[in-house]
Amino acid sequence: MKNKILAKFAELFGEVPALYAAPGRINLIGEHTDYNGGYVFPGAINFGIIAAIKPNGSSVSRVFSIDLNDYVEFNVDEEIVPSQQWSRYIYGVCREMIKRGGKVGGFDAVFAGDVPLGAGLSSSAALESCFAFALNDLFGNKIDTFELARIGQSTEHNYCGVKCGIMDQFASCFGKAGSLIRLNCKTGEYKYFPFNPEGYRLVLLDTCVKHVLADSAYNKRRESCERAAAAIRENHPEVEFLSDSKRLWLDEVRDKISEEDFIRAEYVIGEVQRVLDVCDALERGDYETVGEMMYQTHFGLSRLYEVSCPELDFLARLARKMDVTGSRVMGGGFGGCTINLVRNELYDAFVTAAAAKYREQFGHDLKIYDVVIGDGARKL
Ligand code: GLA
Repeated sequence: MKNKILAKFAELFGEVPALYAAPGRINLIGEHTDYNGGYVFPGAINFGIIAAIKPNGSSVSRVFSIDLNDYVEFNVDEEIVPSQQWSRYIYGVCREMIKRGGKVGGFDAVFAGDVPLGAGLSSSAALESCFAFALNDLFGNKIDTFELARIGQSTEHNYCGVKCGIMDQFASCFGKAGSLIRLNCKTGEYKYFPFNPEGYRLVLLDTCVKHVLADSAYNKRRESCERAAAAIRENHPEVEFLSDSKRLWLDEVRDKISEEDFIRAEYVIGEVQRVLDVCDALERGDYETVGEMMYQTHFGLSRLYEVSCPELDFLARLARKMDVTGSRVMGGGFGGCTINLVRNELYDAFVTAAAAKYREQFGHDLKIYDVVIGDGARKL
């Protein structure tokens, strides 16, 4: 991939650029908790974006996407959002960096990636983190890494219409090979947990489906949570985010909020606790408990939070039937992947059966990704 990017850069822009990379992510547990101030437990993966970038001394940036075979030009000093969707992730990062007092001049860039698109592996966060990290370095801004992650998150909010939490950009910026990271999304405290489950493998099964209204449904989930938190806050002013609430406090407002908001909030409060339980279980080497929690999360995401789909439910059900240790929908949902914790001896039988039965049921193939937990954003 690197050589292809460098060759294209030479063809379009000439002089030798610097190379930067940033990864996509997985999340072991803690889904839809980030924007509720709760815990998440992600790690960076061995799929990512690589970009060749060089400042060009003007205020106009010229960017070429190898995968989309598309080119864009924008002026970093003007609030004129380019029309191509993919380029907004880069343009947004420039603007958000400037809003924070950073300097960003024009640059030339060529990039490519191998994060499957729409699979819930955060290809967009990889793109944002790659450019945030690179522009910070190239223009000498010295913005700290957490703020770089926030630049990516604000790009989603202000330029892409997704009111996401911080998990994806955080994982892409802070990832460390071999470790998952437990992040408290309210305080920003985080801790690395070495993750090398002896005797088990992590495998992602990509349904290759994506709900068309996924972004607006995501934003609606967030609004439900905010309404539930506001109702609880009337009784308990210390509740800043939904994750600050006890289950009992949610029950107190049951009649004041809609049934839908109630079940969304019920899921979130349970999920925040599951992250802590999974971390405890990991420290004991108790992978069976980790897996059981994953199934509970799947149930919650499917029945209470309602962000699953028939394809994902089918794969999680099959995993359960085959005695796989843990399985659940991963990421925002509405399609994408399940993440599966599988004992080594069951691995082959499981992925073979899943591929065959999935095709038989839905008439198209799933994709299988063996993930390795890798490093975060960096200069190559
Ligand atoms: C998407 C968002 C994240 C997070 C997950 C669900 O990936 O970008 O911020 O909310 O969904 O856990």
